[in-house]
This record gives sequence, C-alpha cells and structure tokens, in this order.
Amino acid sequence: MPLVTQGFHHITMVARDARRTLAFYRGVLGLGLVKQTVNFDDPGAYHLYFGDELGRPGTILTFFEWPDAGRGHWGVGGVHHLALGVESAAAQLMWKRRLMDRGIPVSGPFDRGYFRSIYFADPDGQILEIATRGPGYAIDEPADALGQKVLVPPGAELAGERDEEEIRRRTHPEPVEQITPEMALQGIHHISAITDDVERAHDFYTAALGLSLVKKSVNQDHQRTPHWFWASYDGREIAPHSTHTLFGWQGSTYYARGGAGQTHHIAFRARDTEEQLAWRDHLLALGVQVSPVMERSYFKSIYFRAPDGLLLEIATDGPGFTIDEDPGRLGAELRLPTWLEDRREEIAASLAPLA
Ligand SMILES: [Fe+2]
Ligand SMILES: [Fe+2]
Repeated sequence: MPLVTQGFHHITMVARDARRTLAFYRGVLGLGLVKQTVNFDDPGAYHLYFGDELGRPGTILTFFEWPDAGRGHWGVGGVHHLALGVESAAAQLMWKRRLMDRGIPVSGPFDRGYFRSIYFADPDGQILEIATRGPGYAIDEPADALGQKVLVPPGAELAGERDEEEIRRRTHPEPVEQITPEMALQGIHHISAITDDVERAHDFYTAALGLSLVKKSVNQDHQRTPHWFWASYDGREIAPHSTHTLFGWQGSTYYARGGAGQTHHIAFRARDTEEQLAWRDHLLALGVQVSPVMERSYFKSIYFRAPDGLLLEIATDGPGFTIDEDPGRLGAELRLPTWLEDRREEIAASLAPLA
C-alpha cells in the first residue's frame, strides 16, 4: 500500500507578540486556543496552538513567539498564504465587514472558480485568506478525473478584466459584532507556497506524501505563473484540509526569508507512530534527509524539506491536546512537557502573561 497522507495536521507561523496573536486569532477570528506551551527546542518562547474545540488535525494553527524576529517575506521555498475555510459566500462577506470594521484591510471577494476568496494579513503580516467551501474542484473537469490538463480561468476571474470597484465595494450591510455559527472558520482550506520548479515539486509531493495533482491552473493575477493544486484524493473525493497549492516561479532565486509574518513549516498527517516510522523509511529510501522522531507531547514529529527548501513535517494524529487538559479547559493554562516541569518557575517568569 502506498503511503498517502490524509492532509494537513497543522501549520506553524512566527509571531512577535503572543498576546497580540491571541487577540487576533481568538478575539477577531474566533478560533479556540487549544494549548499554551513553550517551544520545546527553545523553552523561553511561547508556542500557542489554535484550532477547533479539540484541536483536530487540519484545524490547527500554531505560533512560535519570537519577540525579536525580523520581518520574514515569502519567496521560493516559503508559504505565500494560508486559507481558512468558511461555509458560504454570505458568511465570507460577514468576515469582510467584521475585519474592515476593526481596521484590517481586506481585498476581494474574488471568484477563484473553485472557491471565492478574501485576503487580509494578521498583525505580523502573515497573509491569510478566507475561502468558501464550494463550488469545488469539479466545476471545470469531472470529479473522478481531476488535474488532467491545464485549465485557464475564465476572463471574468482574471486581474485586469474583473470589476475591481464592484469587488471592493461588496460587503455585508451591517456591523458583525458576534461570530455567527455560519461564520465559523473550518480550519485549513488550502496552503499556497512558492516553488522554483513545479514539475520537480510534483514528483516530490506525489512520491513523498502520496498527494495527487487535482488542478493545473495559472495564477489569476499573473497568468504566466503556473498554479498547481495537490490534495489527498482517492479519485472520487478530495479529503478536507488537504489542498496544497504551489505557484511556479520557474528558475527564480527570490527565496523566502524566515521571520515574523512568515510560515515556519507545514505538517502533514500520519495516522499513528507505526505509519510515521514507515513514512520515515519511505522518505529515506527516496533520498530525503529526515530528522529522528521528535516527542511533541500532543503528537510525534519528523521533519524534512521539499526540494525547493520548504520545511515540512509529518505529525501523528494522536495523542492530541486532551492528553494533559480536560476537553472543556484546553488552553486555559501554561502546560509544559514533563522534562521541563522542574523548570516551570523559571520558564513562567520569562514569559509575559497572556491575559
Ligand atoms: Fe489561496
Ligand atoms: Fe510542527
């Protein structure tokens, strides 16, 4: 049986101020804080985990707090943006209104064919998107034969041909103080990164992670740039939280720079430790350098890089965030792994309180 990941486990980004990050992701976007802990490799720094009420794989956004981090930027080997899912175009417009009323500039909604998108940035400059669930990838080719040929988006969707003024004006008519159930963000819709060789990336993601090409398109805002989509796809359905897209900057040497407002790494799922070990052997057999298995308390991790330099991880689904807190109290207090417990006082003193 070839190894096929079920999709994303989490995405980890860099923030300069944990309180500000909490105010934005929990206060503005309504995500749950499911764990406050420290970076196990750098225990003086917060590591915050957001997600759905249990922090299920595919809904998890994590942040390292590095107050002195310089500003990162996207480029080859880095993530361009993270898209979070929302159920409907109406709810998406409510997000636009809610964000803009809080002084956060929003662009869109743009018709991306397979979904509609609005864009904005978090307080560190990480580019975020809220994307609708539908209409989905089967809108321009059969659901059981996705990714077969290059599809150029219709003119009305392309930069230069859209009615930008109408798009800019479109919003929800009333202020949105409360996040309604319909607005609930549904976790990772897709992650879009930048590569310098989209064919090589294709070989890598299919061989290493078992992902399938589900769409070959071009960047609607820059049509000479290929935009390819991969996902966990069984030939009938695309698994939720599994779409990874790459913009192909063929031969570019404009590399991503790590730092605040940039993604640090993205993690795909392994069902359990046994599958993770099989994955490790599989990657080594492909000639990929892989870290040893790392204990992350809430999952176990292995790390490796895509050929363009993007840092990737495979994390186990379990044991999950309820291993050291009750489901109703996730994220309520600072949790430390057992090997750091005897340094709790010193560690807690070095961290600015979150509230
Ligand atoms: Fe996107
Ligand atoms: Fe990670």
